[in-house]
Amino acid sequence: MTLIAVLPGDGIGPEITAAAVDVLRRVRPDLVLEEALVGASAIDVTGDPYPEQTRSLLRRSAAILFGAVGDPRYDGQEIRPEQALLAIRKEHDLFANLRPVQTLPGLEHASSLRAEIVAGLDLVVVRELTSGLYFGQPKTTRTVDGVVEAIDTLYYNEVEIERIARVAFELARSRSNRLTSVDKQNVLESGRLWRRVVTRLAADYPDVELDHLLVDNAAMQLVRDPRRFDVLLTENTFGDILSDEAAMLTGSIGNLPSASLGPRRGDNGAMFGMYEPISGSAPDIARQNIANPIAAILSAALLCRHSLADEEAAQAIELAVAEAVAAGARTRDIAAPGETSLSTTDFTAAVLARVTD
Ligand code: IPM
Ligand code: MG
Repeated sequence: MTLIAVLPGDGIGPEITAAAVDVLRRVRPDLVLEEALVGASAIDVTGDPYPEQTRSLLRRSAAILFGAVGDPRYDGQEIRPEQALLAIRKEHDLFANLRPVQTLPGLEHASSLRAEIVAGLDLVVVRELTSGLYFGQPKTTRTVDGVVEAIDTLYYNEVEIERIARVAFELARSRSNRLTSVDKQNVLESGRLWRRVVTRLAADYPDVELDHLLVDNAAMQLVRDPRRFDVLLTENTFGDILSDEAAMLTGSIGNLPSASLGPRRGDNGAMFGMYEPISGSAPDIARQNIANPIAAILSAALLCRHSLADEEAAQAIELAVAEAVAAGARTRDIAAPGETSLSTTDFTAAVLARVTD
């Protein structure tokens, strides 16, 4: 029995996760899916964004299908929905976050850039996910001499850099052997360590063509000529920012799935992982049945690929999404002016109709 934890979470999370679950059930009817609370919806019921029941489900699961967390009701509060996401990443050491960025044929015109700049775009952001500014200590707000100050700590050690860099080098090998490492070595100590470690590792991967970009330049190149990139390796915060930027190149942040992987392996050697849209909870459009489920559905494909080692199921899902889009299926965010847009459930039906089982 393969158990998958389903954590729909907040905002549009439940709607788009329901779409992903429908598609996942179609390609893998054998899976046992179990839902649990996370984020604001968990705080509302239990007072805790990551309740013990959810924690224990994750320990028993082969993978996590995650929706989104975040709710403006908890902005600025001590207990926040996002804490659950960070806790899961840390607890399961999900240090390697893969964010594939592809322009789906037919959606070139939905991009914020000219169609000819994004046509055929296909890159992967490899983001370090369990260290850096998000986790470094001290991390606190305090009052010194009557003045309130806040501190976040940007910490990296060479072991953390090396393990994420190896993931990126290996990934580059399985693609077109090109890797761009992003840092801010002209200003940051951690940036200089980052560049030194990545440069040292390059000797182990002589077949991979490596270049380094400062993060500000990388942000610019992404909108100038995004197709120059293949694998883009970044630390935690830079990856968060650059992946949202990259997502918009594909027409909508609602298109981008992600996989968060770590060292944990199941009995059968399969990789434990968490699979989630990069978009967040989008509370402004929640519960209207208009959210784009592509990122969630493609996250289910990544789950099949990495945690079930079922490449066939992964491709069946990806192909069904591509075919639905090619046939003109659009949610509101990716419809060009004049194009009809579908609800979340109708778009999902268009995908399901094309899943070959
Ligand atoms: C993401 C999200 C999260 C992050 C938030 C919700 C904490 O923006 O996965 O990109 O910043 O990592
Ligand atoms: Mg983000």
